[in-house]
Amino acid sequence: MRIAVNTGGGDAPGLNAVIRAVVHAAESRGWNVYGVNEGYNGFLRPGGVHPLTTEMVRGITALGGTILGTVNTGSPFDFPRNGERVDISDEIVNKFYENKFDAFVAIGGDGSFRIAKQFMDKGLPMVCVPKTIDNDVNATHVTFGFQTAVNTATDALDKLHSHAESHRRIMCVEVMGRYCGWIALHSGVAATADIILLPEIPFDLDIVAKAAERRYKTGRNFAIAVVAEGAHPKDGEMTMLLDKQELGREQRLGGIAEKVAAMIAAKTGRETRSLTLGHLLRGGHPTAYDRALALQYGAAAVRAIEQRAFGTMVSYDPPDMVFRPVSEGIDQTKYVPLDGELIQCARDMGICLGD
Ligand code: F6P
Repeated sequence: MRIAVNTGGGDAPGLNAVIRAVVHAAESRGWNVYGVNEGYNGFLRPGGVHPLTTEMVRGITALGGTILGTVNTGSPFDFPRNGERVDISDEIVNKFYENKFDAFVAIGGDGSFRIAKQFMDKGLPMVCVPKTIDNDVNATHVTFGFQTAVNTATDALDKLHSHAESHRRIMCVEVMGRYCGWIALHSGVAATADIILLPEIPFDLDIVAKAAERRYKTGRNFAIAVVAEGAHPKDGEMTMLLDKQELGREQRLGGIAEKVAAMIAAKTGRETRSLTLGHLLRGGHPTAYDRALALQYGAAAVRAIEQRAFGTMVSYDPPDMVFRPVSEGIDQTKYVPLDGELIQCARDMGICLGD
């Protein structure tokens, strides 16, 4: 067996651990693994496809990022070339067979899954591994990278507590997560934030401002608000840094925490500051949990190839890794369930969720 592996979409802690597991699990079966750099772009230039041996993946389990590089622009089905957008997917398919590959492991989020699905429909024998700090991929219990991002956000929120308390300020902290509030909810509850705003619960600004003001009335004199980048007011849109047209792909969210801070300041007269944690959440060493999870995902992807379970994603169904049609991962987005235990816990802790 000759297996190609790539990483696509935004980086997430644990990508390297998946790559290492794929290489080890394949080598132990006498199979060979080849890395494709920067999504599918490696196929388009010399040296962009190269062997990966256990020697070469030594010590990478704990490393953030991806040794293969990644891209989140330019799907091969809508590729920017000579000022136009063209479908170069057949070129990629030809390269796959020219390299005599038997299977492809695509590690990525929903965007990468959609591209992989299109290649599967063209007959490529592929298996997907779900990655994203956002935890929004459906049909799997949790994606690797999420827990590390939550830890990084929680650590930052802990540090901002002493700052906010010293200055008697309201801190509005924006975290990634795209259209889902998983990171905001988990880090906000863990760091005992006072206000958590999620895309799943459009917020009422009067309620948010009152919750912040209540902190001063009860003598706490500071407040911490965690704002998911996709959070938006009841009667308003999500805040975007760049829209679809400007970017040529999915819009880029950002800037809502700054708006919320300004609105709270206007309504309460209190000093507020905002901070966007942004890409910081995508970096750093994966937590032990994410390493173990990522290694299991990678090893299971090779088992899927062994069983010829192509067209699937590896899905974590604790305690098992199972294989599900990749369409299950992308048919729906995995939003935070509003009747979930953590939402209920947040409300019981007196955290304002903006509603
Ligand atoms: O999907 C991961 C993610 O980090 C989102 O949380 C965020 O909205 C997006 O990627 C940002 O992407 P970019 O790398 O284009 O800034």
